Amino acid sequence: MRLPDMTRPTADAVESRLTYTDGASRTVFATEVEVPFPEGRLIVSRTDLDGIITHANDAFVELSGWLRDELIGKPHHILRHPDMPKVAFKDLWNTVSEGKKWHGYVKNLRKDGSYYWVYATAVPNIRNGQIAGYTSVRRKPSRTRIDELIPVYRQWLDQEKEKTAS
Ligand SMILES: Cc1cc2nc3c(=O)[nH]c(=O)nc-3n(C[C@H](O)[C@H](O)[C@H](O)COP(=O)(O)O)c2cc1C
Repeated sequence: MRLPDMTRPTADAVESRLTYTDGASRTVFATEVEVPFPEGRLIVSRTDLDGIITHANDAFVELSGWLRDELIGKPHHILRHPDMPKVAFKDLWNTVSEGKKWHGYVKNLRKDGSYYWVYATAVPNIRNGQIAGYTSVRRKPSRTRIDELIPVYRQWLDQEKEKTAS
């Protein structure tokens, strides 16, 4: 599903062209502005089997910067930040599609180009013994763990870029 390109924010921003697993692509602008995870809140979304958003709680809507109507029916990669390596999401999808629970740190892109870190848990929703969709609940992340993971994610991303260049 083709998402519209972002408009260039007024703050300094790095332009990237993201190509998604479904073959669609879009231009995004990422700024260095971090929005802190709101204290005492949980961010919840649900998707169908293809990762299309079917539910977003108020905290998810507020932190993402999108309107609920703009999120429902869109692929969850609407939040993908250019600093996130694809391998992190491959691991998420491999885990939940096997019926298991996934945990991980995710840097998400807001509608205005700023970002927020979350500690996410994603689980399959089982109905009548079959996976019917997926739910993710995000909590306030540990700053120490984020600082440890930034260089790891950068290394994975560089390796992915080298692979596509060769
Ligand atoms: C329940 C669930 C929650 C997800 N939450 C996020 C998220 O918060 N941010 C994100 O970038 N991708 C999230 N994803 C992964 C996306 O579906 C997608 O795999 C990822 O953004 C990478 O995009 P691509 O696989 O289309 O290239 C989630 C997937 C599921 C099933």
